[in-house]
Amino acid sequence: MIRSVVKGTGSALPSRVVSNDELARLVDTSDEWIVERTGIRSRHVAGEGETTATLATEAARNALAAAGVDASAVDLIVLATATPDQTFPATATKVQDALGCNGGIAFDVSAVCSGFLYALGVADSLLRTGMAKHALVIGAETFSRILDWEDRATCVLFGDGAGAVLLAAEEVAEGGPGVLTTRLHADGAHNELLFTDGGPSSTGTVGKVRMKGREVFRHAVVNLAEVLQEVLEESGFTAADLDWVVPHQANARILDATARKLGLANEKVIVTVDHHANTSAASVPLALDAAVRDGRIKAGDLVMLEAMGGGFTWGASLLRM
Ligand code: UT7
Repeated sequence: MIRSVVKGTGSALPSRVVSNDELARLVDTSDEWIVERTGIRSRHVAGEGETTATLATEAARNALAAAGVDASAVDLIVLATATPDQTFPATATKVQDALGCNGGIAFDVSAVCSGFLYALGVADSLLRTGMAKHALVIGAETFSRILDWEDRATCVLFGDGAGAVLLAAEEVAEGGPGVLTTRLHADGAHNELLFTDGGPSSTGTVGKVRMKGREVFRHAVVNLAEVLQEVLEESGFTAADLDWVVPHQANARILDATARKLGLANEKVIVTVDHHANTSAASVPLALDAAVRDGRIKAGDLVMLEAMGGGFTWGASLLRM
């Protein structure tokens, strides 16, 4: 059978690191509150000249280098972002041009924090149907540019960065590597719990992030546990079979609660929220790359990716590395 096989991962983070103490000088908050309620200690924030496209391009180059694949082989780029460089054209096309692999398919997907899962699902479908052979799936964000830096309920939670995965369509035997099962969901009834208060067609501005955190938290734990169970059942595995879970990094307490609901050992959960904060669509591929590079996630491992975000949107994907 044809499967989408992970050939390499990469990431990019802005050089500027902002501590909780630095934020406590901007808004009425404290390192103690942020660490206790979220697990976040610091985040990377884009500086002048750093954009979603530049971070995405660097992450993509690192994924190509790790895979040992030349950019010229890439015929599909799916980039997940809620913070594109321009309203149009798609940031994916800027990345394509920067990499010099012009001519293939390149587009953005908008599913906020679940964006990488959506991008992976779409890329996997296109690879398996023969539309492309080598796909860069990228999650890249500069949420710092759409934060209200006077709103302590949101500005302490997010960070900037990009992560990328190079997938290749390969003939694989049963039990071999590749994306095994992806399940995606959306429920548009919850727009008002997590949104930007502006947009090109409504206000002619980009708007700022607004969130009813406590309610998002409640939905996140329920929806993530459900979709994880759905993917496990669909693929014929149990939580005990998983080598690693790479969750969306929104809040350490959500990671703990989800692991508990599934009966998963905390040691199997990749955690980067402490130093990345919530990087929206970038968070899953950033965490995946961190764990691949430090040697925790290895070839043959069974890895579950999951995320939940604005829309609401949520999803999970099971891969054999
Ligand atoms: O990535 C997409 C998905 N997003 C998420 O999954 C985020 C989900 N939500 C969360 O992670 C948590 O709800 C938050 C971290 C956003 C908030 O934690 P919480 O324990 O739910 O706190 P809360 O919103 O209920 O607020 C508790 C108190 C409030 O004060 P009062 O009303 O009890 O007096 C807030 O005003 O904490 C206050 N507060 C803060 N205090 C200090 C809110 N933000 C801050 C802050 N520093 N930065």
